[in-house]
Amino acid sequence: MEYPKALVTEGMARIMIPKLSPSEGETLEGARSRAPVFYNPVMKMNRDSAILALGALQRRLSRPLTICEPMCGTGIRGIRMALEVPGVREAVLGDMSYHAIRLAEGNIRMNGVGDRVRVRRMEANLLLSLHARPLARFDYTDIDPYGTPAPFIDTATRATRRDGMVALTATDMAPLCGVNVRACLRKYGSTSLRTGYSHESALRILAGAFVRGAAVHEVASMPVFGFFADHYIRLYMRLDRGKRRADESLREMGYLLYCSGCRSFRSVRGGLAKEGGFCDVCGSEMKAEGPLWLGDLADAGFCSDMIECSEDSFIGSNRRLMKIIGNVRGEIGMPPGFFVIDELSSDLGVASRRIEPVIDGLKAAGFKATRSHTDSRGLKTDAPVEAVKGIILEADA
Ligand SMILES: C[S@@+](CC[C@H](N)C(=O)[O-])C[C@H]1O[C@@H](n2cnc3c(N)ncnc32)[C@H](O)[C@@H]1O
Ligand SMILES: [Zn+2]
Repeated sequence: MEYPKALVTEGMARIMIPKLSPSEGETLEGARSRAPVFYNPVMKMNRDSAILALGALQRRLSRPLTICEPMCGTGIRGIRMALEVPGVREAVLGDMSYHAIRLAEGNIRMNGVGDRVRVRRMEANLLLSLHARPLARFDYTDIDPYGTPAPFIDTATRATRRDGMVALTATDMAPLCGVNVRACLRKYGSTSLRTGYSHESALRILAGAFVRGAAVHEVASMPVFGFFADHYIRLYMRLDRGKRRADESLREMGYLLYCSGCRSFRSVRGGLAKEGGFCDVCGSEMKAEGPLWLGDLADAGFCSDMIECSEDSFIGSNRRLMKIIGNVRGEIGMPPGFFVIDELSSDLGVASRRIEPVIDGLKAAGFKATRSHTDSRGLKTDAPVEAVKGIILEADA
């Protein structure tokens, strides 16, 4: 089947994509989902983040890299990595779709990277399994599926070197954010909850599922950078070898308990928390969410390396991404979860407060406080809910 195509430029790559022709009354999204090969310009920031994260990994490993993108669509992500990250020796791209593979092959030729980038028409788990042995593993594996990456966690771990990195995109926000609880349990083995900080919890549920999946293979893993934006979450997991380290990574697993009565929350490490018990503040029953990852969602040195890599690249001018990296770095060391300032203001019956004076007030009172990158009205702090409410009452609208 031949179909009309259009040329787009993204980063250093020039890519042919299917030309969208929405029928009458159809949205661009609708036309995109019908296209023979998937390309979403909104995901450019996701791909930009991959270029910086791979650059940061390269700095740490200081060796030529092999990478795999087993669900490559047009090939844009893998081609950009080969063009924009120094030291990519070999990229293996894959896709199940005949049209995707044909388009990716043409795009690889057009960008002059055919000597380093090859493409295979194959199911992703099969392609990854073929590389799941020493010497055949990749330094970096990028899982960018439709919806959930959960079915690829096992094979991605097995196909990645023990000091390498796995990147995951998840767009199934309804399960991860407590809207479709049963699907979350099915996909991630975790109970999700609808709270003000659901997008952060989504990252923690995915990280937790990955940590447990990797531990099965005696591989330790931890997030070095993760963020929520638009309609997806994106997580970069660094791997490490050994039973002891895998056991240590599991110590960061646990539950987040949430009180819908007063909006307080707390975390419990380890164990099973089928029920959340009662809230210390208002006595209401708390709900448990998890198991999930309670540790940091980023590593400060890795974020700094990403920022440094951006300085050598046009990606530095992507102000939105740079702000996200800065905010994610600012969240390191803060407890999981956050308050939404509008929810607390509304509970108190006062007008919504500006977030900065509340952050300053909390800091002046000796607490830690910062913004959440997932929500411009999200306030991360180690202060208890009553202290935050007290500061809100003092702050001007
Ligand atoms: C979200 S698109 C990938 C977009 C691409 N990574 C990018 O950055 O533009 C998902 C792709 O995965 C392919 N796909 C879905 N399930 C697959 C599977 N199990 N194995 C291989 N390819 C798959 C689809 O054909 C589609 O091209
Ligand atoms: Zn309470």
